[in-house]
Amino acid sequence: MNVIVVDDYMQLSDTVAKIIAQRVQSKKDLVLGLATGSTPLGMYQELIHMSKNNRVNFGQVTTFNLDEYVGLSACDPQSYCRFMQEHFFDQIKVKRSFIPNGLAPNLAYECLLYESEIKRYGGIDLQILGIGRDGHIGFNEPGSACNSRTCVVQLDDITIRDNARFFNNDRSRVPRQALTMGIETILEARECLLIANGAHKADIVARALRGPVTESVPASLLRNHKSFTVVLDKAAAISLG
Ligand code: PGA
Repeated sequence: MNVIVVDDYMQLSDTVAKIIAQRVQSKKDLVLGLATGSTPLGMYQELIHMSKNNRVNFGQVTTFNLDEYVGLSACDPQSYCRFMQEHFFDQIKVKRSFIPNGLAPNLAYECLLYESEIKRYGGIDLQILGIGRDGHIGFNEPGSACNSRTCVVQLDDITIRDNARFFNNDRSRVPRQALTMGIETILEARECLLIANGAHKADIVARALRGPVTESVPASLLRNHKSFTVVLDKAAAISLG
């Protein structure tokens, strides 16, 4: 595990964008696993900036997002599909982008399909991950099996509470289920990169990186990965000791 601690959110976004750009430069047809949430927003901004300045070209890159809410259409303002359009794909042309379809008539089949698309593209080269305050990665909540594949999951109360900010602070509007790549799917990526910023993540970051490797803290399972990098700002790293 390689832990990089930088001063602030801007440096975190720059550092992660540079790592991604470097991987794209060394493999034009990179298969890139993407994440949503507040944490990667700066990283997306920086990648857009780099792309506009011809410092990176995503034209041959294929992307797979980690997760999507069940029951929201792709154009729902809170769907992760819409998030990705707004924050990245509207400005960056990639070869192909995949996001699980939370409105698929047969969700179990959608999960199998997602797995088979990842395989068809040769597996994920680099997976970007945020971390929830409960330690989730993707929407793999505490207790998710380490051999889980893309599946339908129930969201934890803490996740529903945290994500209510995107739904006018109305918890009742937050979907209760999501589709997510499984832990095993994530661990099969050739490289995993976890990012976290802010004091509100310090406790869970310490548990994930210094506590026991356990399904109770899904992010801790990334420590079993042979190519795992963490990029933190100082505030998120403060409890690492
Ligand atoms: P955040 O979400 O970036 O909005 O904090 C992270 C996550 O839940 O994975």
